[in-house]
Amino acid sequence: MERPKVYVTRRLFPEVVQRLAQECRVKAWESDLPVPRPTLLQEARDCDGLLTLITERVDAELLEACPRLRVVSNMAVGYDNIDIPEATRRGILVGHTPRVLTKTTADFAWALLMAAARLVVRGDRDVRAGRWRTWEPMGWLGQDVHGATLGIVGLGQIGLEMAKRATGFDMRVLYYDVIRRSTEEEARYRLEFVPTLEALLPRCDFVSIHTPLTPQTYHLIGAPQLRLMKPTAILVNTSRGKVVDQKALYEALRDGFIWAAALDVTEEEPISPDDPLLTLPNCIITPHIASASFATRRAMANLAVDNLLAGLKGEPMPACVNPEAVQYRRPGG
Ligand code: GLV
Repeated sequence: MERPKVYVTRRLFPEVVQRLAQECRVKAWESDLPVPRPTLLQEARDCDGLLTLITERVDAELLEACPRLRVVSNMAVGYDNIDIPEATRRGILVGHTPRVLTKTTADFAWALLMAAARLVVRGDRDVRAGRWRTWEPMGWLGQDVHGATLGIVGLGQIGLEMAKRATGFDMRVLYYDVIRRSTEEEARYRLEFVPTLEALLPRCDFVSIHTPLTPQTYHLIGAPQLRLMKPTAILVNTSRGKVVDQKALYEALRDGFIWAAALDVTEEEPISPDDPLLTLPNCIITPHIASASFATRRAMANLAVDNLLAGLKGEPMPACVNPEAVQYRRPGG
C-alpha cells in the first residue's frame, strides 16, 4: 500500500521530521515564515495528513479542498485556528500538544509577571540609553511580588502550574474558571475559588490569563473588567491575544486604571509596529514565545508527529481534540 502523504507547514527540527518521513511521504514548507494560503491550499489537496501551526487557518475551505485528509495535527496546545465541528463532521481527527508545554509556559508567564513588576525591561532599556546616572532611591520603583495576591483566570494545567509557583512567593492565589476544582485540589494547592470574574479582579495585585480562546472568552477582559482592577495591578496574558480587548487595555494603561501589562500574545500577530500599545513604557510585549524552550518545542514537534502517525494508522492518538470524528470517517478513510 502506498505510504500516506503529509504536508508540514513550517521548518521544524530535522530529526523529528525524519521520523515522520520513515512512514510517510513528506513535503514541507521549509521556511520560518508561514506558508502562503494559496500554496497551502495547493499542497494539501492530495494529502492524508497535515502538520499545522497556529498560523494556519484550518477552515471549511481548506478541508473541502482536501478530500483525502484524515488527520490534522496542530503543533500547539490551543486549536482556535481550526474549525473543529467542521473537521469532525468530515471525519477528520485533530491532534494538539498539551502537557509537554505546561511547565515551560507557566515559567514564562512568571518571567513576564516578574519583569513587569520589577521593571526589568524598562531598566535594561534605560541602561542602554545612558539613563543610569546613579543609584536612585526614588528611581525604577516597582511592585512587590512576594506576599501579593495572584488571580488566575482559567485554571487548567498551565494555570495550576502558575499557582504552584506562587506558593514560593508566599502569595495568596485566587482563581476563576467555569469549572471548579475539587475541594482536595483547592486545599492541596491553597487555591481560593472566586465564582465571578467581577469578584476576582478587584482583589488581585496580579491577574494571569490562561483560558483558551472561544466565543465565550473573546474580549473577556475589556474596559469594564479593567476598571475593576486595582490601579497598582499587573495583567499578564500568555493565552490568546483576543481574550483581551487590546484597545481597552491601551486606554487602561495610558489612563492609569491598571499599572502595567505583560503580553506574550496580541490580537493580531505579529502586532503592528504602529500599534499604540508599543508607545507605552508600562507594557511588555514578547513574540508568542511562552513555550519556546529547546526541549519543549522539540517535545511539541515530537508529539505532533506521534499524533499524526497514530491517526493515520487508525490507532488512538496521544492527544486528540475530537476522537468522536472516527464515526464520521468515509469507508476506507
Ligand atoms: C501556543 O500558543 C500553543 O497553543 O501551544
